[in-house]
Amino acid sequence: MSTPSDPLALELLDWYRPHARMLPWRSDPRPYYVLLSELMCQQTRVETALPYFERFIARWPTLEDFARAEEDQVVLEWAGLGYYSRARNLLKAARAAVERGGIPHDPEQLRALPGIGPYTAGAIASIAFGIAEPAVDGNVERVLSRVDGRQEDPKSPAGAAALYERAKGLLEGVPAGDLNQALMELGARVCTPRNPNCAACPWAGSCVAEASGSPQDLPNKKKKAPPTVIRAVAGIWSQQGAVLCGQRPPGLLGGMWEPISAACEGDPATTLSAAFLEKTGLKVKVGQRLGEVLHIFSHRRLTLEVYEIRGASGVPSALSDYEAVDWVDAAQPHVALSTLARKTLALAQPQQPELQWLAAEVDDDAC
Ligand code: ADE
Repeated sequence: MSTPSDPLALELLDWYRPHARMLPWRSDPRPYYVLLSELMCQQTRVETALPYFERFIARWPTLEDFARAEEDQVVLEWAGLGYYSRARNLLKAARAAVERGGIPHDPEQLRALPGIGPYTAGAIASIAFGIAEPAVDGNVERVLSRVDGRQEDPKSPAGAAALYERAKGLLEGVPAGDLNQALMELGARVCTPRNPNCAACPWAGSCVAEASGSPQDLPNKKKKAPPTVIRAVAGIWSQQGAVLCGQRPPGLLGGMWEPISAACEGDPATTLSAAFLEKTGLKVKVGQRLGEVLHIFSHRRLTLEVYEIRGASGVPSALSDYEAVDWVDAAQPHVALSTLARKTLALAQPQQPELQWLAAEVDDDAC
């Protein structure tokens, strides 16, 4: 006899069906779309990932097409989405999947692919293949901690194991992909971190955190260390509409391109002219200050002061720090620029309104 479904699971599914956002990987959950969407949505909002997803499937319609893509082209399409190792892992995972005859169904085999951890494996197995495997991300941790009034840190081994088991129980006898996505949706749209909308929640009345009167106090998480504050300078040397950029070495934003820049503790102009000489072999004059870009990485808060560069002569070459240097057209780059680099370039191009929104953005863009 099959185990009866948890009434909470049925209530959640009743809520989800009319409330689910129409997303291309929901209306067509073919394994390639689900793999792509899950890697794009790691640490990124669905709304941000959506246009990238559309561009990827237009350019590489099938898993096999994508597996044949050049890594540089994948990173170029990914530019602006942040956490660039995801793009490289996605390509490695797709190539490994094609080699073994397709994307595996089994969560354990999925976890063996690059960039796929327990959450992503559960999401792909359940959404693409209907397998009853939990997919516990930050949203799901919050929803389940609140409904049960759980006091453990969801990131602790015991807390995580308990949440996995709870999510597994909810999957009994219901469509696993829908239930997992309903939990994510509830967390993203109703059971939000600071101001949960309990009046709109299908679990209001059964929720321990709601009954306590302060649902926002759960989950109980260890406090994050405050971000490290870093100061840096960047120089914009333009020639015929293109700006001299360098390609970063492996590590933070590895492989991405940016205007020549350097960490700065002292005088910005002295630091910048020394950086140009050391990194590109060019003697430059530092001109007017163009402005400042604020950028938040996962654990770092960067203030980048941007200066115009004048009076340079000679042919630049990559001497230290950069893998390569080249002239890059900011409006139509032929290389992958990080969001930070695009914000920096936008400061130097007030005449290009399509770049201006970037200068005002403060967002995540990590390695
Ligand atoms: N975040 C990650 N995967 C998602 C999905 N399938 N639906 C909504 N949000 C998500």
